Amino acid sequence: MSPASGAPEAPASRPRSHTRPEPYVYVLFGATGDLAKRKLLPGLYHLFVAGLLPEKFRIIGTSPRKFEWADDDFAAHAKAAIDQFGNTKPTGPQWDQFASRLSFGAASTDDTSQLVSAVEAAESAIGGHVGRLFHLAVPPSAFTTVIKLLGACGLNKGDAKVIIEKPFGEDLASARQLNDVVHSVFDESRVFRIDHFLGKESVDNILAFRFANGLFEPIWNRQHVEYVQIDVPETLSVDDRGAFYDATGAFRDMVVTHLFQVLGFVAMEPPTSLAAKPLRDEKGKVFDALKPIDVRHVVRGQYNGFLATNGVRPDSDTETLVAVRAEVENWRWHGVPFYLRSGKCMPESRQVITLGLAQPPLRMFHTHQQDAPMGRVNEIVIDFADPGSITVEFMAKVPGPDMSLGATSMTFRYDDSFAQANALEGYERLILLAMLGDQSLFTRADGIERVWEISEPLLTSPPPVEPYEKGTWGPDTMHKVIAPHRWYLH
Ligand code: BG6
Repeated sequence: MSPASGAPEAPASRPRSHTRPEPYVYVLFGATGDLAKRKLLPGLYHLFVAGLLPEKFRIIGTSPRKFEWADDDFAAHAKAAIDQFGNTKPTGPQWDQFASRLSFGAASTDDTSQLVSAVEAAESAIGGHVGRLFHLAVPPSAFTTVIKLLGACGLNKGDAKVIIEKPFGEDLASARQLNDVVHSVFDESRVFRIDHFLGKESVDNILAFRFANGLFEPIWNRQHVEYVQIDVPETLSVDDRGAFYDATGAFRDMVVTHLFQVLGFVAMEPPTSLAAKPLRDEKGKVFDALKPIDVRHVVRGQYNGFLATNGVRPDSDTETLVAVRAEVENWRWHGVPFYLRSGKCMPESRQVITLGLAQPPLRMFHTHQQDAPMGRVNEIVIDFADPGSITVEFMAKVPGPDMSLGATSMTFRYDDSFAQANALEGYERLILLAMLGDQSLFTRADGIERVWEISEPLLTSPPPVEPYEKGTWGPDTMHKVIAPHRWYLH
């Protein structure tokens, strides 16, 4: 893939397996938190073992000053987390080498001295030019404080980069405000707003599937596609995230943050290259073409029992499940509904994109009993939960004297098709890309603001939440929102 002429980003294409970043100090805000424990520390260790971290690097954990941790406490915490949540176990000389690169430096707004000293010590231990990458794995309410803190203590200087978790804002006004704060400390070229879905192999594979094959792209439009579904039900409950979830809800937590980004990949025009600028420009055009959400085509559900969750307001009307019909009003997609759905306490945990293809005339198959429900004859089903698969559902002749049709399918499974050892988890790929300065899989300021903008009607006039039982597919209206089609998962 050649770089787009004049594109400012480097590198212009994704790293090959031998690409290793330059020396780095990676500073993990929220080092004592849940995301660090479950995903980031295990992910960093896997990158190290896979030989993908820089040859020279240091990892500094940081948290508010109330955590008076020594370097060894952080190393012990990291080891326990990697042991519990990582696939690569922390043992032997490899672990010792990794652990020797860990340190801890607490930081609060009124005192950043420990953190600054830890960064200085790490940089001088490495020597020469060292990149800095700050990862804000902290609650959204702390983003502004941490960004300002980095500006105030001068750690933002030079080519320092920052990864910011989600949700980025809670509406258009707050997203703009947050962007202003971020831009007062970091130039946009150094900002990496993370959506870990975009780091998933099988979401990235949407681009390969569409644009590296002659078979699918010609039908990827309103002439042939009748509807698109992006469906992410989850069996897990809100669990111990009551306060965060009550303030956020399924729409902000999943649809704005993840599902719209996936929609961007499904709906975009072919970019001129996979470099960050052309790729994000094309995604941005999809967001520009999104119509403001029509609340008549939205269902919000709340599972029974949610109100008893610790941290949830007793009269909360926050949704734990949401289904939205979105529309991309452009030449390619005019008239094709995009149904987006996600919820907690549902019967299955799946991450599925379904493209329903327009039905051909079946009159010649006169003996065929039309038992396939509408829209289920031909579907392309992309399962993007790691490791991921793609299925094409189609009709075939049932063996026998009559010409009768039966529904069947062809499936590609990542699991048994390529060497899984090379696979990286979403966060791992994205941290690696951030170190390489490649913003292609990160959300740009204008993109996130536009998504909030088209969400305004729903945020200001949400339809009432409807109750549903745990372990079900939601209230009955869930079927109405998609009529005359039906959910692929149900
Ligand atoms: C997170 C949401 O961003 O994504 C969670 O906050 C959700 O509510 C999670 O469960 C799903 O991601 P994954 O990769 O664990 O399926």
